[in-house]
Amino acid sequence: MKSVYVLGNWKSNKTLLEATSWVETFFPSQQNIPEDTIVILCPAFHHLPLFLERKLAIFLGAQNVSPYQSGPYTGEISALMLDAMVTYAMIGHSERRTHFHETNEVVVEKVKRCMEHDIKPIVCVSTFEEVKDLSLHVPEFSRVGILLYELPSAIGTGKADSPENANNIAIQFKQLFDIPILYGGSVKPENVKEFVSQEHIDGVVVGGASLDAQTFISLIQNASLTVLH
Ligand code: PGA
Repeated sequence: MKSVYVLGNWKSNKTLLEATSWVETFFPSQQNIPEDTIVILCPAFHHLPLFLERKLAIFLGAQNVSPYQSGPYTGEISALMLDAMVTYAMIGHSERRTHFHETNEVVVEKVKRCMEHDIKPIVCVSTFEEVKDLSLHVPEFSRVGILLYELPSAIGTGKADSPENANNIAIQFKQLFDIPILYGGSVKPENVKEFVSQEHIDGVVVGGASLDAQTFISLIQNASLTVLH
């Protein structure tokens, strides 16, 4: 039986008060995370200490990392600064590519910075060509932690890709690299099982539905392939 990844991506959301309340709701229920389910949460950088104060049954990730080393880069968070705080970092999310003009060239630098500091990159891509291009420029690309297939038109729109199409894309990616492939785009508690039941999809990335702790907990329960519903 495969493990199922559920990655929550808070994006640019939550005040300190809202984040604290989410943690307080989520924390007691983390003991019910099904055994086959690996939960990763990517809050904003400044919310990370709220999680580090507690004994966690989930992994933490960053939503972004600087392409530069530490130094005179005002406003940037380097991979070294995240050392001992996160296990993963999302790199090249389609929102960063769209709103911050992040190119594959920048993504390559970010992936390299992560690898230098033992942070597992979660590399976000929309096409097979993107994966091929990135892998040509990152030595040991097979060491990236996770590949996330996202369909930009499905992100935040409620119009998820079809599980079958996402599975076909995952098959193509797996022909290049045998690493976990996640799908992201309008995943909710109601449709998560359809995605994770696909043979080549190893889990999901959840934006909107991760913002409410109870909804996220339901989604985690529904994602398990061992828990009967
Ligand atoms: P969404 O975001 O769940 O809000 O569509 C998904 C993502 O960012 O990958």
